[in-house]
Amino acid sequence: MFDIAILGFGTVGSGVMEVIEKNSDMISQNAAQEVRVKYIVDVRDFTGSPYEDLIIRDFAIVENDPDVKVVIETIGGVGVALEFSLRSLRAGKSVVTSNKELVATHGYELTRLAREKGVNYLFEASVGGGIPIIRPITQCLAANKIKEIYGILNGTTNYILTEMVKNGATFDQALGQAQANGYAEANPDADIKGHDVCRKICILSALCFGHHVYPNLVPTEGIESVTLTDIAYAGSIGYKIKLLGRAISREDGKIAAYVAPHLVREENLISGVEGVMNGIVVRGNAIGDVMFYGAGAGKLPTASAVVADIIDAAKHVSARKWLSWEDGGPEMIYDADLLENAWYVRTSATPEQVKGIFGDVSFAGGCKAEETVFTTAVINKKQADVLLSKIPVLSLFRMVD
Ligand code: HSE
Repeated sequence: MFDIAILGFGTVGSGVMEVIEKNSDMISQNAAQEVRVKYIVDVRDFTGSPYEDLIIRDFAIVENDPDVKVVIETIGGVGVALEFSLRSLRAGKSVVTSNKELVATHGYELTRLAREKGVNYLFEASVGGGIPIIRPITQCLAANKIKEIYGILNGTTNYILTEMVKNGATFDQALGQAQANGYAEANPDADIKGHDVCRKICILSALCFGHHVYPNLVPTEGIESVTLTDIAYAGSIGYKIKLLGRAISREDGKIAAYVAPHLVREENLISGVEGVMNGIVVRGNAIGDVMFYGAGAGKLPTASAVVADIIDAAKHVSARKWLSWEDGGPEMIYDADLLENAWYVRTSATPEQVKGIFGDVSFAGGCKAEETVFTTAVINKKQADVLLSKIPVLSLFRMVD
């Protein structure tokens, strides 16, 4: 019998229970022993729930129970979730989490503690929901020097953009549906303002490049600036607008990472990633580009990744999985504003004014009389800002082919 405890019985925590019950035979077979949820720690009232008997409020019971080998942290946030994770690891228990905020901000400290204690700290569900991405990076792609990783890392915002474009939903309707489907964060601002993507690109950067990238060092924009007008203009020149997280390893050892909406060319596979799906491209120096695609949010997809980690922890009780990195800091970071790309610009300046400043740029056809849409040559943000300071800018987005 392999006893575990679930901390936090919300969307993901209850999904973990559901998957364990639904696939119990297969999970026991894969874990080579029966996996049993011994406790669920949650301070809320679950009277009448089929799991009422398992619910406790006092985490110390889990901490002091030597039978509990793995603690599943699905509380979220960096308050009590951090405290309970540290206490679990110090008590010699492995921890499995879906908490991207915690891994992105305290992952270095937590993985180091796990290493010291000879236990595992596993977080497959923290990026890409149900998509296998942490293991592929650390195991299947381990022979590569990874140069870049980018993609759609937030199901809620991708769902909102897709619903607005394909089904004519308003922003609020699409967000409400994402919340009802269990995709959105407790505070959906984390999705909409790009913080969730920021946390995920920080985790991926640490795994790909070996140094912790702290979220406060990553310039982050969400989807608030994306309008249906821009989506239509983008479509007319063969692009879709997608919120991307992107991180690049430079020759000088620095890491450039940022989060922003981009115009993505329709031929790029990322462009076809719709709804709650996520798509992540990893560029290795041996494999070239490899793309991971699947459900990026939601109760059961996320629980699928958590339970896979539980099985892995059950199989590695006395053998640690290698999953750690060095600390990082501002000295490791390359200014993302120096990365070069073409830019999509919507302005109230005339095409003649634009030509006078930018030279021979490419204009979108069919614009409204009072506005001009054009795409620039490949320049960095600082160069673009100098030129753009001379015209009224209505929208500005990076472009990727
Ligand atoms: N709110 C997140 C998303 C959940 O929409 O992608 C999965 O991390």
